[in-house]
Amino acid sequence: MSEHSGVRKKQVKLVEVGPRDGLQNESGLIQTSDKIRFIELLAKSGLKHIELTSFVHPKAVPQLADAADVIQGVGALTDCETSVLVPNEKGLERALEVGVKRIAVFTAASSAFTEKNIRMTVDESIQAFTPVVQRALSEGLSVRGYVSTVVACPYVGKIQSKAVLETTQRLFDLGVDEVSLGDTVGVAVPTDIEQLFTAIQEKHPNWLPQLAFHGHDTYGMAVANAVKAWEMGVTIFDSSAGGLGGCPYAPGASGNVATEELVYLFESMGVQTGVDLEMLAEASLYMEEVLGRPLASKQLQRIKSSKDSHCRV
Ligand code: HMG
Ligand code: MG
Repeated sequence: MSEHSGVRKKQVKLVEVGPRDGLQNESGLIQTSDKIRFIELLAKSGLKHIELTSFVHPKAVPQLADAADVIQGVGALTDCETSVLVPNEKGLERALEVGVKRIAVFTAASSAFTEKNIRMTVDESIQAFTPVVQRALSEGLSVRGYVSTVVACPYVGKIQSKAVLETTQRLFDLGVDEVSLGDTVGVAVPTDIEQLFTAIQEKHPNWLPQLAFHGHDTYGMAVANAVKAWEMGVTIFDSSAGGLGGCPYAPGASGNVATEELVYLFESMGVQTGVDLEMLAEASLYMEEVLGRPLASKQLQRIKSSKDSHCRV
C-alpha cells in the first residue's frame, strides 16, 4: 500500500461531465429543452459540480452549438457549481456573454492529439490559453484545466508520465485551480494509474488535492482505475450519468465511467459522494428515453430492472 494512502478521505468530489463529454459525441440532435431537463435532474440528485456544455467551434462539435441557450435555460442551480469547456478567446467571449462563472481549458500530454482536437500543439495551446485564463480570472471566474491522453494517445500510443507532469505544471502556472487528468482513450489499467500517481507523489505531492481523475471506460477498466486513483490519494473524479460519452477526436473511445458506478462504489466503501443513486438514475433514464437506447451503466440497468420487477409484482 502506498505511503500516500494515509491521506485517503472519507468524501470524494464528483464532477458530472455528462451534459458535455456525455453528449458531445451523440450524432442525433438532442433538443435544448431535453439537455436542460437532464441537467436539472442531475442537480436534484445531489451532484454539486456539473460541466454543462462547451463553447467550442459549432462545426467541431455540432451537438453543443446551443451552448448559450443551455446556460440561459438552466439558470442558477441551487448549491451547485457549474462550468463550461472553453478552447480559446472566442469561446471565452461567448461564455462571458451568458454569465458563466467557471470555465475549463483543455490540452493534453500529446501534441498529436491536440493537433487533431484543437488544431494546436501543446505549446501553442498553452500560449492560446494564457490570455484566456488571465482574462477569466480578472473577470472573477474560476478556471479548471484538463490534460488528456495521460496514459496513451490514440495517434502515438504510450505516453510518458514526464509529459503529463510538464503539461500539468504549465496549467497550474497559468492559474487554474484544478487539473483533470484524462485517460481519454480508456485503455489504462490500474498499474498505469499507479505509475502516473507515483510520479506525481514523488515530484509534486502538494498537487494531489487539486487533481481529478477523468477515466473513459472503453476497455471496461474505468472503475478499477478510479479505485487505484483513490488509493493513490485522488479525491476528485469526473464521470458521466449512465456512462454517456466519448470524444469525437479520440476514435473508438467510449463514455466516461458512469456516475452511478462511482456512487455505488464509493458509498459502499463508506466514502461519501453526496449523491442519491435512485435520483441520479432518474436523470439517466430520462436520457435513455431521449436517445432511444439503454445506457452503459450496470448500476443503472440494475436499478431499472428492479423497478420493472416491482411493476410486475
Ligand atoms: P480553428 O478552426 O483552428 O479556429 O479551430 P480559428 O481560431 O482558426 O478560427 C476559425 C473560425 O472559427 C473563425 O471564424 C473564428 O471566429 C471561429 P471566421 O473568422 O473564419 O468567421 N471560432 C469560433 N467560433 C465559435 N466558438 C469558438 C471559436 N473559435 C474559433 N470557440 C478550435 C480551433 C479550438 C476552435 C476548434 O478546433 C474546436 O472548437 N475544437 C474543439 C474540439 C472539441 O470540443 N473536442 C472535444 C472536447 S475535448 C475532450 O473531450 C477531452 C476531455 O473530455 C478530457 C479527456 O477525455 O481526456 C476534456
Ligand atoms: Mg473526456
